[in-house]
Amino acid sequence: MNDIAKERNLTWHNGLVARTDREENHGHRGAAVWFTGLSASGKSTIAHHLEKMLFKRGCSTYVFDGDNVRHGLCSDLSFSEDARSENIRRIGEMSKLFVDAGIIALTAFISPNQKDRDRIRSLLGEGNFFEIFVNCPIEICEQRDPKGIYVRARAGEIKNFTGISAPYEKPVSPHLEILSHQEEAMDSARRVLDLLKMNDVIPE
Ligand code: ADX
Repeated sequence: MNDIAKERNLTWHNGLVARTDREENHGHRGAAVWFTGLSASGKSTIAHHLEKMLFKRGCSTYVFDGDNVRHGLCSDLSFSEDARSENIRRIGEMSKLFVDAGIIALTAFISPNQKDRDRIRSLLGEGNFFEIFVNCPIEICEQRDPKGIYVRARAGEIKNFTGISAPYEKPVSPHLEILSHQEEAMDSARRVLDLLKMNDVIPE
């Protein structure tokens, strides 16, 4: 139990259905597949292709996308360093609940800081968390610029923009690195699928 829970007299309630029971029903393990990379690097595209592949195999999945989550759950958060950490902390905690529910949670957030990603990695534990580095040169992200956001960042209209006026820390030891400018998104998704098979998250 953490200190805050102790101070507030909170106890953890275990249900009558265990994670392993849920996983047996789903026919696969719960896991968080954490995509990290610059805006427009292809995180969401790959996550959605992967979700479709998993879904076709009958897996229970859900994609959490940075832009979508910032419309609701994290709509109070800016892009300051602290706010980004809080954004990632919330998604990490939410992913943990999904993993406990036996679901394969796919997350697509820039998540620029190593320490924030490491915190989620240890929160979820090895075998439950897979860090996927979607590595795309910023010049290519800027060429893609589907939301016209890089142009605005270069013009100084958006402060603390990752890769331009705010840092992106490349993952130190990702489970998989994807060079999204050299590979089709479907092929990348297939490689993540293989990673999940290799780690017994899903059956062969
Ligand atoms: S994170 O850094 O906290 O992980 P998140 O993935 O939730 O970021 O949101 C990123 C999306 O927010 C980008 O794809 C972009 O559309 C938008 N955005 C708005 N302002 C910024 C900014 N200052 N830096 C990066 N992305 C931004």
